[in-house]
Amino acid sequence: MKLKTKLIIAFMVMLILPTGFLMFARHIFEPKEVGEFQQMFLLIIFFTAALLVYWVYRTVSVPLAKLQVAARNIKEGNLDFEITADADDEFGELCQDFEEMRLRLKANAEEKVEYDKENKELISNISHDLKTPITAIKGYVEGIMDGVADTPEKMDKYIKTIYNKANEMDLLINELTLYSKIDTNRIPYNFTTISAKQYFLDCAEDLYMELEAKGVEFEYRNYLEEDSKVIVDPEQLRRVINNIVSNSLKYMDKPKGKVTMNLKDVGDFIQVELGDNGKGIAAKDLPYIFDRFYRTDASRNSSKGGSGIGLSIVKKIVEEHGGNIWGTSEEGEGTIMYFVVRKYQEVPMNE
Ligand SMILES: Nc1ncnc2c1ncn2[C@@H]1O[C@H](COP(=O)(O)OP(=O)(O)OP(=O)(O)O)[C@@H](O)[C@H]1O
Ligand SMILES: [Mg+2]
Repeated sequence: MKLKTKLIIAFMVMLILPTGFLMFARHIFEPKEVGEFQQMFLLIIFFTAALLVYWVYRTVSVPLAKLQVAARNIKEGNLDFEITADADDEFGELCQDFEEMRLRLKANAEEKVEYDKENKELISNISHDLKTPITAIKGYVEGIMDGVADTPEKMDKYIKTIYNKANEMDLLINELTLYSKIDTNRIPYNFTTISAKQYFLDCAEDLYMELEAKGVEFEYRNYLEEDSKVIVDPEQLRRVINNIVSNSLKYMDKPKGKVTMNLKDVGDFIQVELGDNGKGIAAKDLPYIFDRFYRTDASRNSSKGGSGIGLSIVKKIVEEHGGNIWGTSEEGEGTIMYFVVRKYQEVPMNE
């Protein structure tokens, strides 16, 4: 019952009760007898008023005490409690709002902890990944200074290694910069509407050249309708495809590598499937490969460079295109990465 209703009831009772009682007494008893009831009459008024005040007071005091405890808890940073709303009056609603506020604050606090943890992980990963080539560069430079590289061949080898390691660092820093830009939405997307068939055909031609030079077979099937269009940032989507294919090459363990690219129309989306016959990904790792810095044990223990950022960038770009990405894999057999991007639908003018 609303507080307002309770106050009206209390007011009405206090008004009606004494008047009614007086009228009743006057009706039943003689005027001189009414005076004898005066004491009882006052007593009844007193108890009724006390009862009504207590009734209204309880409505306010119980939830107020609860809210006081809740506010104190929140002030002290303790968000692990629950505020229950017992009544359906204004105070019940206030308790409910307070509970919602507590849940939101708790979710924010948990998000912040997770974010801080990720940031710490990010810094430790960056320092680890940068330290490895720096240690190598230092070692080779010391070798040159100490005169260990005493023949032109050795000197050449040392300098080439230093150059390669510096390149590795450069690549890593570029990748990190790109990731941080993507993560903080500082990459401006240039979306354009283009023919899906033509765009992916161009990508496939480039891939064919690149893979052929590396002795990897490339199979391409384009089932797209001639007139399907997509709204994409061509450069960023290219980055997605290159990243996935670079993984296919990096984690290839067969002497005769093979990469496939299939394109399909699936309802409102265009589906791109990029497969390989590489070493595959264990089922336990598959759900995490799109997390940043996630590398499977198998690839972490191998000599293949990489920091586990590639697929997290890919995921972010695909999602910015309103799409979705996932993968299937069989260990020893190969991996297929699927992603979808939304088709451009022409809306007739009269709709
Ligand atoms: N085609 C694939 N075959 C086998 N394993 C793969 C394949 N693609 C991804 N993986 C696994 O998923 C992990 C995450 O991939 P991701 O591209 O994010 O990182 P990375 O290749 O290790 O590093 P980076 O791309 O930053 O150089 C890889 O370390 C690898 O273990
Ligand atoms: Mg990669």
